[in-house]
Order: sequence, then C-alpha cells, then structure tokens
Amino acid sequence: MVFITRRERFCAAHKLYREDWSNEQNEQVFGLCSNPNWHGHNYDLFVTVKGEINPETGFLIDLKIMKDIINRNIIDVVDHRNFNLDVEFMKGVMASTENIAIEIFKILQPQFEKQGVTLHSVRLHETENNYVEYFGD
Ligand code: NI
Repeated sequence: MVFITRRERFCAAHKLYREDWSNEQNEQVFGLCSNPNWHGHNYDLFVTVKGEINPETGFLIDLKIMKDIINRNIIDVVDHRNFNLDVEFMKGVMASTENIAIEIFKILQPQFEKQGVTLHSVRLHETENNYVEYFGD
C-alpha cells in the first residue's frame, strides 16, 4: 500500500454565524470569525490517496489526473468565492474548516474510486497554525 498527497491552494471568504443567535452570542462563540462583513483565508488543501502501484507505470495514480480531479471538483468552485453564499456544497452547512473538509471528502471519494485508488484523507489548513484532517468516518 502506497500513499500519495497532492496540495492545492485556494482563497475564500466565510463567516461563522448563526442567524438564530444574537450578535453577542455569535461573537462569544465564534469570535472574529463571526464578523458580519465576512473575512477570508488562504486555504491549503492536502488530498491523500492510497492503493497499489501499477507495475507498468510505477505510479499509484498519475498526478496530472489527481490535480485535475481536485481542481475540477473543488478549486474551481471555491477559489475566490464565499463559502456561505456561493458554494453549492456548503448550502445549509456551517462553514467551519471541519465541515468544509468533510464535504470535500464526500465529493472527491467517488471521483478517485473511478480511478482505482482510495481516498485516504483530506487535510485542510485554514491558517498556518490550524488544520483539520478527515478520514471518512
Ligand atoms: Ni475564518
């Protein structure tokens, strides 16, 4: 079993805010991330797949294919967008790093399955000090 990881980057805006809470309660729980006028992050997305090496190519998966899958399904729909307003797969979901990582995993899993490899993890860095990792359960 071999693991391979591809990094992609994107920039996006969000806020962590519950409409059913007061401004004070939102600020108390979500701090600066509840700013009503939005804020952005430079996200780093690490996608790891696993499987067996193809003896003919020596590859687990062609990295060009891996890059295309991540870009087409994720980067193209989130880069320079607002997670709360523009991103269909986050509709009705709190735009926390945890939830974004889980939704990205759900989208990518079947795409990699088609290529004969298994999605192992999605790691999403919101800042250089904080990241979330999701393994599918
Ligand atoms: Ni934030």
